[in-house]
Amino acid sequence: MARHIPEEKVDEIRRSTDIVEVIGEYVDLKKQGRNYFGLCPFHGESTPSFSVSADKQIFHCFGCGKGGNVYTFLMELEGYGFIQAVKQLADQTNIELPEEVVEDEPSSERSEESQTILEAHQWLAKLYHHLLRNSKEGQQAFQYLIDRGFTEETIKKYKIGYSPNSRDFVVTFLEKKGFHPQTMVKAGLLSSNDQGDYSDRFRGRVIFPLRNHLGKTVAFAGRAQGDQEPKYLNSPETELFQKGKLLFNFDHARSAIRKQKSVILFEGYVDVISADQAGIHHGVGTMGTSISKSQANLLKRYADQVIICYDGDRPGVEAAVKAAKLMKETGCQTFVARVPDELDPDDFIQKYGGDRFQKEVIATSETYMTFMMSYLRRDYNLQIEGDRIAYIEKVLQEVATLERAVERDYYLNEVAKEFEMSPDTLREEVQEIQRQTGFKKTAKPAPQPARAEKPATGRKRLLPAFHNAERMLIAYMLKDPLIADKVQNELGGAFNISDHQVIVTYLYAYYEDGNDADVSDFIERLDDQSLKNQVIELAMVPVNEEVSDQEIYDYMERIRTEGSDRTDIKSLEDDLKRAEQQQEHIKAAEIAMKIIEKKKQLKTH
Ligand code: GTP
Ligand code: MN
Repeated sequence: MARHIPEEKVDEIRRSTDIVEVIGEYVDLKKQGRNYFGLCPFHGESTPSFSVSADKQIFHCFGCGKGGNVYTFLMELEGYGFIQAVKQLADQTNIELPEEVVEDEPSSERSEESQTILEAHQWLAKLYHHLLRNSKEGQQAFQYLIDRGFTEETIKKYKIGYSPNSRDFVVTFLEKKGFHPQTMVKAGLLSSNDQGDYSDRFRGRVIFPLRNHLGKTVAFAGRAQGDQEPKYLNSPETELFQKGKLLFNFDHARSAIRKQKSVILFEGYVDVISADQAGIHHGVGTMGTSISKSQANLLKRYADQVIICYDGDRPGVEAAVKAAKLMKETGCQTFVARVPDELDPDDFIQKYGGDRFQKEVIATSETYMTFMMSYLRRDYNLQIEGDRIAYIEKVLQEVATLERAVERDYYLNEVAKEFEMSPDTLREEVQEIQRQTGFKKTAKPAPQPARAEKPATGRKRLLPAFHNAERMLIAYMLKDPLIADKVQNELGGAFNISDHQVIVTYLYAYYEDGNDADVSDFIERLDDQSLKNQVIELAMVPVNEEVSDQEIYDYMERIRTEGSDRTDIKSLEDDLKRAEQQQEHIKAAEIAMKIIEKKKQLKTH
């Protein structure tokens, strides 16, 4: 593994990080005994077999066998390289890395140009924010925000900024920092004309930095202060900024979303910020585009429930219908909040306050079906029979897409009551629609109940006794260098399972280097992923706090006997071959019997 970060730093950062906290950002973990359990993020499952050990700072999935330390986790889940994983945790723990590491991003992970664009954004975000708070020109923009109800704290938290009304303020700034203007045009930070002149792209606008899920600014949205067009000027798409992938505020909201298993989806940046300021922290927004499949799936990974909270006007409702359909397809329980009087969520909060927003808008949001029924109703005059039938037909088509039979029944009964029809007729109609549309229940399990289920601590494996002895012994050796030392003297590498031989050889060397017991660190020295996983699994084997010498000797004895039995069999097999070659049939038969007998004994150990 190529490493440019000093070993001590890697260790220091790992030690300053709590794996439970890091993984807890992604997986809902419940404490069970000494370990934490949750649903494995690496394979689909409905009972938790993914465990995290706070003592050992490792994770292991009994289902799919993946395991490792905090770096392995980030590499597997985020697709990071090793350096990237270390860097991210260095950021979070405020441990400084040597300058050359910070500068040097392996080219395979991100193109050099993207890296440059990323840096330019960080500089510019700082500059814009500074100008909003400290420049004379920014004063007006600052006041605009205050008038709109933003607090100073919020302005700071979201690093809201101001871009001066100048042709070349940013041109000069970026040039001084050494950025190539051509690249900056590509990044959407500068504009250029046919003559090859460069100019500032954002001018006289309030700047909202758009951060990716790691909290890095990758684009800007510039809001006009008055009625200029366009109202919002967004950065163009780049390798780093794809509107269909990024969700506004996801980095801030992630842990609240995970904790509540619920997310609120807004249309506007200001709505998200305004809700956050009002104490509703699990909100995210799209980039002025309809929500994409990939964004929907991302939300599904964190939340069981989504509340769509779009503007109360006609376009807002149309957009909500689209978003609701998409979210429902992911298997999320989908609700739609209604903002009254054609207000947008921010207007409502400014007018009536966060409490009423929570109580009257969020808490009263409608289920997907109730929302769809009243939405469809708009198009029909239900006094007219023809319209009534057309409406019922539409509703039944929606009902037919519902996953759960109880839900379908519930709404069928609603319709039956309202229009005085027989529920059975409606049910038949729904079944017919399902047949025609080839409705198939998706294989997705029903949403997980919040309570912790009994974790699956792995298949109970029936292993031969010597094999168990080797596993137990290594489990103790991983915990205690003194035990490892004893085993090294008495048994050395004489384990029967060849992977175990390799593991103990590494482990002896690890302790000889003066290291203390630390599985999470130890696995960093193994190159082979399958060996790493085995070590992690062994480290998760439950062992006693205190172990007697006798127990350790018993394990060693088992392993030795197995070894000598195996040697015995090996030499008997040689004898057999010789006897056969020399046509000594009786002797050969006797030896064969002995071998069978020995093998039988081995199995029952
Ligand atoms: P405020 O008017 O500042 O409260 O913003 P808003 O969020 O209420 O605006 P609106 O509801 O009109 O738009 C919702 C979202 O659509 C915004 O947050 C932007 O992402 C996007 N949007 C709105 N207007 C424009 C525009 O003129 N250009 C672009 N590119 N996006 C826009
Ligand atoms: Mn608004």
